Amino acid sequence: MDWLRGGDIAARNQAANLLQSGQLVAVPTETVYGLAADAANEAAVRSIFSVKGRPLLDPLIVHFASLEQISAVCEVPPEARALADQFWPGPLTLVLPRKADCPIPSLVSAGKPTLAVRIPGHPLLRQLLIESQLPLAAPSANPFGYISPTRPEHVEASLHQGVAAILDGGPCEHGVESTIVSLPAEGGVRLLRPGPISLPEILKIPGMTEAAPEEKIAEDAPSAPGLLKSHYRPSKGIELFPAGKIPEVDSEQEAIVHLRRPQSPAPQDFWLSEDGNAAEIARNLFDLLRRLDSLDSIQNVYVEMPDSEDGVLKAVRDRLSRAATPPD
Ligand code: TXA
Ligand code: MG
Repeated sequence: MDWLRGGDIAARNQAANLLQSGQLVAVPTETVYGLAADAANEAAVRSIFSVKGRPLLDPLIVHFASLEQISAVCEVPPEARALADQFWPGPLTLVLPRKADCPIPSLVSAGKPTLAVRIPGHPLLRQLLIESQLPLAAPSANPFGYISPTRPEHVEASLHQGVAAILDGGPCEHGVESTIVSLPAEGGVRLLRPGPISLPEILKIPGMTEAAPEEKIAEDAPSAPGLLKSHYRPSKGIELFPAGKIPEVDSEQEAIVHLRRPQSPAPQDFWLSEDGNAAEIARNLFDLLRRLDSLDSIQNVYVEMPDSEDGVLKAVRDRLSRAATPPD
């Protein structure tokens, strides 16, 4: 796997050439690293699924440079336009109806009549999208079900075969995946996955309302399989504890992950932020879980669960609950 460093035009050109020739490139976004392919190239998209070990029924997000490009492949209702004006480029994904003549292969959206799209804000990826004009299909660059990567080193440590290069954009700003919303035909927005942009922020847009929750069809067929009960799992078990209720540990094989730095930390203590800042907690979450997962000396990890759902903490709670849920 080549590292394309420097963030300059040469690195971006090399990434663009690889993508154009149907190869996979790990790219930085403001949320997590993505495993990108030219979304119009069906064979390249197929290799995303095989490199990740991802089931073909789990649809991908396509990243674009502009709303104009998106309007060529999806219907863009007025609510979507308002969301785009407010939050793009940025960490929001919209699930929109595919146009009848949508040129993106249906494999990308797992045969669904909708396509998940976003215009990301990371400057390096944004430049690459503008210069290459390629629509890039990119799920998070991790093996299916494992913790998402927030640093280029994470990609290198967990994906091996089939990734031509990593475009190094440093650590990700938000550290949790984008907020996903759909716009059901009945009107309003429906939150499918909490992320850096909260539902209350979205509902501040004049005229925007919350749609009724989707009727449950079956547990194993959620509309966003990232919403499977068990996901983002480290290989070690993690156990959650309520904010402030620090468990007693008596072995050096146990780690405690605090939301803020304890007053006099012991060797088993780790923390997600200095003083409880929500953005910092989210930014450090996956990196710390990965670091602990790779320490042979640690067997059990206890993580403090935020007691607030404000802002990005709703996404942190969501990812922690899934990380702590054993697969069926
Ligand atoms: O921040 C992010 O969104 C990152 C970066 C790389 O952009 N991407 C990401 O992709 O998290 P992924 O594949 O790990 O998660 C995408 C989620 C999945 O849960 C998928 O089921 C859902 O989006 N999704 C994709 N297309 C959909 C559709 N048409 N309808 C409903 N959900 C969809
Ligand atoms: Mg993912």
